[in-house]
Order: sequence, then C-alpha cells, then structure tokens
Amino acid sequence: MKNKYRAKAISPANIAFIKFWGKKDPLINLPFNDSISMNLSNCFTATEVEFSPRYKRDRVFIDGREVQDEKLVRVVKILDLVRKRAKKKLFVKIVSKNNFPSDAGIASSASAFSALALSASKAAGLSLPQKELSILSRLGSGSASRSVVDGFAEWRKGKDGQTSYAIQLAPPDYWNLADIVAVVDKGKKIAGSTEGHKAALSSPYFKARLVELKTRIPAMKKAFLKRDLEEFGRLLEEEAVSLHVCAMTSKPPIFYWKKGTFEVVEAIFKMRERGVSVYFTMDAGPNVHAICLQKDSNRIRKIFNKLPGVLFTIINKPCLGSRLVK
Ligand code: PMV
Repeated sequence: MKNKYRAKAISPANIAFIKFWGKKDPLINLPFNDSISMNLSNCFTATEVEFSPRYKRDRVFIDGREVQDEKLVRVVKILDLVRKRAKKKLFVKIVSKNNFPSDAGIASSASAFSALALSASKAAGLSLPQKELSILSRLGSGSASRSVVDGFAEWRKGKDGQTSYAIQLAPPDYWNLADIVAVVDKGKKIAGSTEGHKAALSSPYFKARLVELKTRIPAMKKAFLKRDLEEFGRLLEEEAVSLHVCAMTSKPPIFYWKKGTFEVVEAIFKMRERGVSVYFTMDAGPNVHAICLQKDSNRIRKIFNKLPGVLFTIINKPCLGSRLVK
C-alpha cells in the first residue's frame, strides 16, 4: 500500500558569489549581509523522507551510513519544526544520497538541508510556499536558503527569522556561466563553516568587509544583470579574498588555502593573460571554483586536470532549485 507520509526531493548545492560569513544570530542562522549564488547542476542531494508509526526513533542515512551526534541533532531540529507545523508526532526514516563524491570537500549542507526541508515538509502533508521553504532550509544551514530558488539566488539578510530568505535574482538560462570545481583536497576541512562563522567576528577585517559589501553587492548585481563577465569576475575574486582574509586573521586564524589552491589560482591568472575570461572564488575550503562561460569550460578543465595538485574537476551549469521527484 502506498504510504502517504513519504516524499522525495532533490536539491542542488550552490556557489556563493557574495558570501555568507559571520552570523548575527547563530541560533536561527541570521546573516550580517545579503548573499548571491548560483545553483550547481552536478552537485545534488536526493533525500527521501518517510514518517511512519513503525519507527521508534528518527533514523538518518547519508550515502549508505547512519548518522549520529551533531549531524543528527541538526536534522532533528528541522524535523521537529515540521512535526510541530503539521501537527504530527511520528518518527521518520531519511535516506539521503549525494550525486557528487561526499568526500570531495564540496559543501553539501546547502543541498542537504534544502532537500530535507522540501521532502520532510511534503511527507508531513505540508505544501510550503518558496519563501517558507527557504526559511526552513536556512534554519538547517544558512546557505541552504539559496538552493530552494531556481538558477541564481539572492538571500536577503532581513531583520529577523521571518524576513531572512532567498529570492530569485535570475532564472538558470539568464547567463550561460559555468562553475568548474577544481578539487585539490578531499580531506575533512580544517574548520567547518559553523566554526568559521564564529571566528569571523574576531577578525579586525570583519567590519571592513561589511563596509565594503555595501558597495560590492550592488556593483556585483549590476555587473551580473549586464552579463559583464570582466567586472563581475573582478568583484567575485575581491569577495573571495575578503572572506579568506577574515578567516586568516580570525583569532585563532583559519588557513583554508593549500598548495593546490595557489596552483589553480595561478593557472587562472595565466589564462587571463592569454585572453581567457575565467575567475576564481572559494568557499570555506581549499577547493577552487572557476567561473567562466560554458563554451570555455572544457578547455579550462583540461588545463586544471594537468596541474599536479588537482585531483579531479566537476563542471556545473546554473540549474533549477529544490524540487520533488516521484
Ligand atoms: O551555510 P553554511 O553555514 O555552511 O555557510 C556557508 C559559508 C560559505 O560557503 C563560505 C559561504 C556561502 O555563502 O555559501
């Protein structure tokens, strides 16, 4: 018999062009600044949720392994909100799979929590509008708020829990950009984003970053809407460096960059000298995201794949946000 308390959703990871770094309210993941991102077509999480009286506790399996501890606590926090809203007291079984190697050092929390918000709410019988889904996803992981939206997203920081959510900046086909992830390190990050967000506030440059963002955000939106890759790329790199300067000057400092990170960045500079439009950004980790036009992505990837520090590459295009699957 068909279980009516079951639903499956897929959701992409996203790369932040303007980053969420530092939490104004860590309990509800309120950011200090707006952020902007692109969904990644080849970095997905698929999550199936089933509520049933047969289950005696919540069980969560990610890529075939049952999760415990802190990860489970974060998932249960979202489930409890869904149960409260749907007035359901049942436990769940969750089976979640990433289509990208889960040890690739690519942030999976955005795809994971946005897929969870959609599948869990639907399985509980709720049909939440996009705004509510973005808020629910944000409570799991801030960046997940952006994966709900199709294509390119803008997460408005808002004033409180109810006004902080993502909206669409442009649909996936607005700009034929590609994001080539050059994976240089697959190991566990030296500091997770939760730790990084906390440390950010101790950097003397954090305040300067917020001041800079007042002009960088509108400038980037303008360059984006004009599809001006040169200006967009300049701001993209400035923004990534700004995050990493804050991380490197936090107390204690966090150095995410590795030898391979420099190799890829140098290769990008060299390509630009030869007239190829490609720019870098990085999240809280050593892997480099190279942003370029889709028509250039294969030849750029070939250059990355020849670098000794590059383990493998993943090419992404902008894509739809969270959605239900049969
Ligand atoms: O959503 P979190 O808490 O994992 O934070 C994401 C932090 C960055 O990836 C570095 C930036 C961003 O906006 O995605």
